[in-house]
Amino acid sequence: MPDSVSSSLDSSLRIGVLGCGPVAQAAHFEACRKADNAELYALCDVANDLRERMAAVHQPQVQYGSYEDMLSDPSVDAVIVATADAFHVPAARQAVEAGKHVLVEKPLGTDLDACLDLRERVQMNDVVLQVGHMKRFDPGLEYARDFIGEQLGEMFAFKAWYADSSHRYDMTDATQPVIVQSDQARTPEDDPKADLAHYYMRAHGSHLFDTTQFLGGSIEAVRARHTNEAGPHCWFIDVAFTDGTLGHLDLTVAVRMDWHEGFEIYGEQGSVQGKTFNPWYFKASEVDCFSESDEQYHRPLGSDAHFYRRQVEGFANTILNGTPQQGTGIDDGIAVVRAMIATARSVDSEQWVDLNQVQGSL
Ligand SMILES: NC(=O)c1ccc[n+]([C@@H]2O[C@H](COP(=O)([O-])OP(=O)(O)OC[C@H]3O[C@@H](n4cnc5c(N)ncnc54)[C@H](O)[C@@H]3O)[C@@H](O)[C@H]2O)c1
Repeated sequence: MPDSVSSSLDSSLRIGVLGCGPVAQAAHFEACRKADNAELYALCDVANDLRERMAAVHQPQVQYGSYEDMLSDPSVDAVIVATADAFHVPAARQAVEAGKHVLVEKPLGTDLDACLDLRERVQMNDVVLQVGHMKRFDPGLEYARDFIGEQLGEMFAFKAWYADSSHRYDMTDATQPVIVQSDQARTPEDDPKADLAHYYMRAHGSHLFDTTQFLGGSIEAVRARHTNEAGPHCWFIDVAFTDGTLGHLDLTVAVRMDWHEGFEIYGEQGSVQGKTFNPWYFKASEVDCFSESDEQYHRPLGSDAHFYRRQVEGFANTILNGTPQQGTGIDDGIAVVRAMIATARSVDSEQWVDLNQVQGSL
């Protein structure tokens, strides 16, 4: 860890948030303010009107219109990159080279080579990089992961699904704060929604793949089919896990019904069934874990399900106390990027695609 960073750390991580857009407003500002081992030290956005309003509400110690200026502030220990996907890798790279730890929104990136280059820089600068797959901090998923490790025995089958709802904006508008927009906000040159299949894969598929590897282990290859003939985009994805587990994933955006996300996992000594809710309900997944050892189902309550706050606390814990990284590290972030690219290639070729063979971007 660079001296400039280690010497400034105490019991609370001073975070600078890059981007005052919707995800920062609905998740990260509050998460940093509620975290018991971090503080919202700085926020940054080129959009002056937006930044001023967010600073008035969240009262950071400092605010910056320039990212470079925020990175030059020695009091900033770590940054959260809360910008559009196309800016994730460049912004993370700048932070890493300034010796700052980084929590970068998902997906890690869109271009595989750029992600691999970022990994080298993370290693060279000896900083922590975590990807914002906050579902790893869902207490239901944490419980399922522990049960799988301790009681499931050998896993042989894994099914997971993630279907956004046609009514999702009714739901999120009801629970999120009123989102402030600005005409001055920086947006990518290319419209991220120009290719909707790719956009949905990055926005939603990235979560599905990360949950899959969190619970099921590493993915070796995928074979995918895709349709949007009826409007919604739907992928059915066969998954070959590295350990031989059979896998099947369903990604649909959006089903004409409620949010539909969950998993069923079968093992030699038990099974796990999970139902995950729209994240903006801040409700832990309902997870039923059956164990042959006591012939009982086990289900946690998971009352504290502020995934975004718990994600920040986990990130800070890794940096401050050296706690093993529970969040998605750079290798798993890269594996998600590989899985998304492999799925797109497989849709085109109708063949199995090995994740280690893919190149290019999504
Ligand atoms: N984990 C989740 O649950 C979740 C939910 C929603 C969105 N996201 C992710 O969050 C990310 C951000 O989403 P959003 O909708 O808030 O983005 P956005 O593009 O609407 O807002 C980003 C803000 O960052 C500012 N910005 C960008 N680059 C800057 C720079 N170099 N310097 C200063 N300011 C800069 C822009 O001006 C803008 O105001 C996306 O990658 C998305 O995938 C994650």
